[in-house]
Amino acid sequence: MTFGVNILKPTNNPATSPELTDALKASVKEKRAQVVALLAEASETFKNITFANSYGAEDMVLTDIIAKEKLNIEIFSLDTGRLPPETYTLMAEVEKTYETKPVVFFPKYEAVEEYVRTKGINAFYESIELRKACCHMRKVEPLKRALANKEAWVTGMRAEQAATRTSLPAREFDEGNQLEKYNPLSDWTEQEVWAYIRMYEVPYNALHDQFYPSIGCGPCTRAVAMGEDIRSGRWWWEDPNSKECGLHVKN
Ligand code: ADX
Ligand code: SF4
Repeated sequence: MTFGVNILKPTNNPATSPELTDALKASVKEKRAQVVALLAEASETFKNITFANSYGAEDMVLTDIIAKEKLNIEIFSLDTGRLPPETYTLMAEVEKTYETKPVVFFPKYEAVEEYVRTKGINAFYESIELRKACCHMRKVEPLKRALANKEAWVTGMRAEQAATRTSLPAREFDEGNQLEKYNPLSDWTEQEVWAYIRMYEVPYNALHDQFYPSIGCGPCTRAVAMGEDIRSGRWWWEDPNSKECGLHVKN
């Protein structure tokens, strides 16, 4: 297996190209070791463990660690059918870099056909109910299938990301899905995530350089201004305190 074959060019976006000071590099190395230890223990404790990879920056860090450390953790993604083209480009790049094929879960086609026929192709802009219904059929229901018969799952969530995530632990019991949940990057900063990506030459979504700090479905994600909240480009028309798609609800 070959790693680090695609050398990435630095950009003018300071968020995705932080200055790699000795202190930052040391902190990333220390946190990487902690993640490896946590995930190694998790994969020994739970034989049936899977990582939810959205191909966002955080998830690329975890993909890189799981692949390079050869951890016994499966990886899957929810392909909502509305992901931006850049995400599919990255999926193909990940195939090459890590010599693997993606495991994807699609929504049930009957549900999508019914929603589009009765509500419209972009009805999620019309109300929170219609937005949540779209997220439910395109993400939450496929997630249930992805987690069926699993003992534990791993996410790339960070506490700093959102008002809804401030007390995110590195390990918790997921009441809603009834299995153990690991958030190994819970205490990482955005700067550490990007330092990792640069230090270990990890492939990433081209939209990040274009001021998209958080990427979901194409129609529900937009660029943010410098200094704006990192999730402000997700469902930007909604209240920040209710901006979760249902993948990470408590119960
Ligand atoms: S979301 O709930 O608002 O969509 P966000 O994009 O912040 O979540 O991602 C948080 C974590 O949820 C990711 O690190 C990943 O583990 C999981 N996740 C989100 N979207 C997907 C997806 N499409 N496929 C797999 N996992 C996902
Ligand atoms: Fe639908 Fe938007 Fe949710 Fe994607 S993020 S599932 S397009 S409402």
